[in-house]
Amino acid sequence: MDALLAGLRAVAESTRLRLLAILAGGELTVSEITRVMHQSQPRVSRHLKLLCDAGLLERSREGAWAFYRVARSSHGGGLAAALLELLPEDDAGLARDRERLALVRSERAERAAAYFRENAERWDSIRDLHVGETAVEQAMLEAAGAGELPVLGDLVDLGTGTGRVLELFSPRVGRGTGIDSSREMLNVARANLGARGIVNCQVRLGDLYDVPMESGCADVVTLHHVLHFLDDPAAAIREGARLLRPRGRLLVVDFAPHALDFLRTEHAHRRLGLADEEMESWCKSAGLATCEVRHLESTGANSHETLTVSLWTATR
Ligand SMILES: C[S@@+](CC[C@H](N)C(=O)[O-])C[C@H]1O[C@@H](n2cnc3c(N)ncnc32)[C@H](O)[C@@H]1O
Repeated sequence: MDALLAGLRAVAESTRLRLLAILAGGELTVSEITRVMHQSQPRVSRHLKLLCDAGLLERSREGAWAFYRVARSSHGGGLAAALLELLPEDDAGLARDRERLALVRSERAERAAAYFRENAERWDSIRDLHVGETAVEQAMLEAAGAGELPVLGDLVDLGTGTGRVLELFSPRVGRGTGIDSSREMLNVARANLGARGIVNCQVRLGDLYDVPMESGCADVVTLHHVLHFLDDPAAAIREGARLLRPRGRLLVVDFAPHALDFLRTEHAHRRLGLADEEMESWCKSAGLATCEVRHLESTGANSHETLTVSLWTATR
């Protein structure tokens, strides 16, 4: 009862109700929220704090950034969900917030896309900066079941970039399809596949949130160093799950949580790594069973040595 009253009191104010509505569309940083709300940062932060204290929002810190999202925990999350249901569809103020939010999101997506356009040619060398790729690739083959099965069937690689994952898996799959939204990346991928004489793999231009392929078409879906760039990793996992056949495997490879802020400022990373618990909950919500997690510590003797690569395998 006390918690419910505290939640109701916290949200009984127009700015805070707007905040809840804005964050219903996914997590945001304070500066993004500030731009959507057209209010000063201290003011927005104060409202955010009140909503967090009342359990309606959750905050997580990643390096210099803090992300806010609607709570999922039982009492606060339940109240937030119930209130969001009651918001009037036709409210002009909320509609303006939605428009500004769409703008903030599209600018962010354009920044990431520009980064990929500019780095398509040298992407493979950027990958090598992070961690020993050979060990990761060996672990990927094992996690996807290449040791147990003679042929893995159909593979879909989401955010395929230069097509390295297709190249790695090509001897082990019947057919491989790489999806990417960057034409520049796909040009490099096509050139790479062609140069290596790989004929069972192809790439297609597409959005990984809405893959132009039918449900249940894949035995293995891979997301290799893609989720940390995305606004909505949970939606990407749902789309990957949709593509899987029964007993198919989703293989996600990404960084474990870290504090290397320069990856955000210089390399367009949206998230400083991903935690096992987050991945577990996204997979569960997508109807997948997470079976295995493997962490590969970097042994490099440079400033990137604190990066750990995680491999999560989930089965449909
Ligand atoms: C860091 S690269 C990784 C490429 C590749 N998986 C690898 O490890 O070499 C991320 C890729 O995701 C692609 N990407 C980002 N957002 C996407 C989206 N919404 N739909 C499709 N591709 C996307 C980018 O264009 C980029 O090629």
